[in-house]
Amino acid sequence: MDMTHALLHEFHKIGTLPQNIIHLSQLINNENTTLEEIEDIIRIDPVLTAKVLTLVNSAYFGLNRRVDSISRAVAFLGLKKLHTIAITDAMSNIYRSPVLNRSLNPELLWIHSAASAICCKLISERIFARNGDEVYLLGILHDIGLIVESQTCPQDFLQVYEQWNPINEPSLPSLESQILQTDHCVLGFHLVQAWNLSEAIAHGIRNHHTVDENIAPHSHTGILQISNYLINNLGYSIKPGASKLLSKSISHHLHEYIDEYKTLADDLPEEIDSIRQLYTQ
Ligand SMILES: [Fe+2]
Repeated sequence: MDMTHALLHEFHKIGTLPQNIIHLSQLINNENTTLEEIEDIIRIDPVLTAKVLTLVNSAYFGLNRRVDSISRAVAFLGLKKLHTIAITDAMSNIYRSPVLNRSLNPELLWIHSAASAICCKLISERIFARNGDEVYLLGILHDIGLIVESQTCPQDFLQVYEQWNPINEPSLPSLESQILQTDHCVLGFHLVQAWNLSEAIAHGIRNHHTVDENIAPHSHTGILQISNYLINNLGYSIKPGASKLLSKSISHHLHEYIDEYKTLADDLPEEIDSIRQLYTQ
């Protein structure tokens, strides 16, 4: 077994990922699933039920009337939003798990991921006039491979994290390859494939550190790279000084839409704060 699969095998044994969230993802991405099946999987999990109802009734959605049943919550949110809520909630718990404490500050990883998700969604909707729910998921999940590493080989991960200097070479994935014989992009790619998420999400995770002229700005990977570039420059990085190298085509695109991106960057901190509050209730 290669190192990637050995670490993933170990990660599954630890059982960090809530099975109901994986099951929910698989159901939502299967076109034969009925709404009743989705509702049932939420109802058998009292914590998820409570969370979905709390979120639907939070000030964020600004509803006049209280939603007090799962079937109404599902009808109100729609499946895509329900999916993003369930995954964001699961990730907010995992990213903050104390296991990470000795190396990567879990709060930093959570804020980096949430900021990336929101930024991806805004880019998709404002710049490319497309629904942003799927790239939001890509943003929240893109660094999940770091969780796998930190939980399955904490010592080696600590070494990687301490040696990594974001301003100089080697890049994080090449340092991981040297020390761990795999990297968080490959780990994340294999991990989410088992959830039936789209190929575009899986490939976005795999390529998020790859600088390649063939990555189009409007693709999932392109949007994630632009998002990480913006949020790292705004200070939402996992290590101070971390930025992202951009391909020429993506830099060119950023310059072309510079005014739109400036407005987006101005709006980001407030959007990030509201998500932060929503998931720390
Ligand atoms: Fe990354």
